[in-house]
Amino acid sequence: MASEYLLAIESTCDETACAVIDSEGKVISECVATQEAFHEKFAGVVPEIAARAHLERILPVIDTALRDSRCTPEQLRAIAVATFPGLPGSLIVGLAAAKGLALAWNLPIVGINHIQAHIYACGLDTKESIYPCVGFIVSGGHTSLYRCDDPLGWDYLGGTIDDAAGEAFDKVAVMLGLPFPGGPALSKLAQQGDPQAIRFPRPLIEDTKRLDFSFSGLKTAVRYRIAGSSQPEHVGVQLDPKERADIAAGFQQAVIDCLVAKSLLALKKTNLSRLCVGGGVAANRSFRDRLAQECSKRQVELVIAKPQWCTDNAAMGALAWEKIRRGQFDSLDLDVQPGLVRPNR
Ligand code: KG4
Ligand code: ZN
Repeated sequence: MASEYLLAIESTCDETACAVIDSEGKVISECVATQEAFHEKFAGVVPEIAARAHLERILPVIDTALRDSRCTPEQLRAIAVATFPGLPGSLIVGLAAAKGLALAWNLPIVGINHIQAHIYACGLDTKESIYPCVGFIVSGGHTSLYRCDDPLGWDYLGGTIDDAAGEAFDKVAVMLGLPFPGGPALSKLAQQGDPQAIRFPRPLIEDTKRLDFSFSGLKTAVRYRIAGSSQPEHVGVQLDPKERADIAAGFQQAVIDCLVAKSLLALKKTNLSRLCVGGGVAANRSFRDRLAQECSKRQVELVIAKPQWCTDNAAMGALAWEKIRRGQFDSLDLDVQPGLVRPNR
């Protein structure tokens, strides 16, 4: 029975989360506060609103996770916090809370990379190590492939050159008159459509030299299909229901084809036989099923994070134990490193 615990904080984008994790990596408690209702009318995350909402929620969220864990601050080994990449104001709130607790409870602080943590989340409920693997993060901000030799050692293989896959889902959902965040709503609508009825472009899919993605042209193709070149957006709600569902299914199929093709290519190029997938879009049922089919054909081990650990959460802060074991602590001078894709960091 483990006797040391880690308190992990996540506030990189629009989820305020805290988890308590024991030294064997078992998640003892977790609490996630989402902000979807605040951003819905803007159909996207508004950074200033996100930061203010984090500020209101961070202490109650930490309090809930700690109380549910029944741990005392004396049983904690360290405070972990995701410090990059992410939205500046959002990151600052999580880091300030972590520093405050570290000072008050005289604990060390461990800054973690949010993307490495998303990959680590794939192994949270498995006893076996998930490394080495191709790590694939498909979220609202990232669509990135990495060669991961261990939890903290990785190389960037490729990623989106414009929109992230989740961002494309969210924007196409707006065109179809669906609520924010668009991914879950669009995939539900896609179930009623025929994925073969409308063929949208699959950018860069034929380019086997690059492990990159591009979704902005695909998004524009959907827009033209919905509205023609001169009509305003939001016209999707007036579409015939069958056509609307077919557009959703055709778009989703095009995105999934690109994601699957490049992840298989990454496995081939790295000669690795394990694929670990995380990030919000990895919660998509059709994507998960398709990956499972393709990987089983090729004897590739597929590890996808549990749906609640695909989207942003603090349980994936368990990654900090890997740093603690290596004596990698941070000082109270630790700062945030905002931004989006940060290869090799
Ligand atoms: O990882 P995440 O919670 O936040 C970051 O972006 O870091 O991912 C959120 C993204 C959103 O774009 C959302 O629309 C997308 O993941 N998403 C989905 C699904 N569930 C969430 N996209 C497609 N299908 C889903 N089922
Ligand atoms: Zn994320």
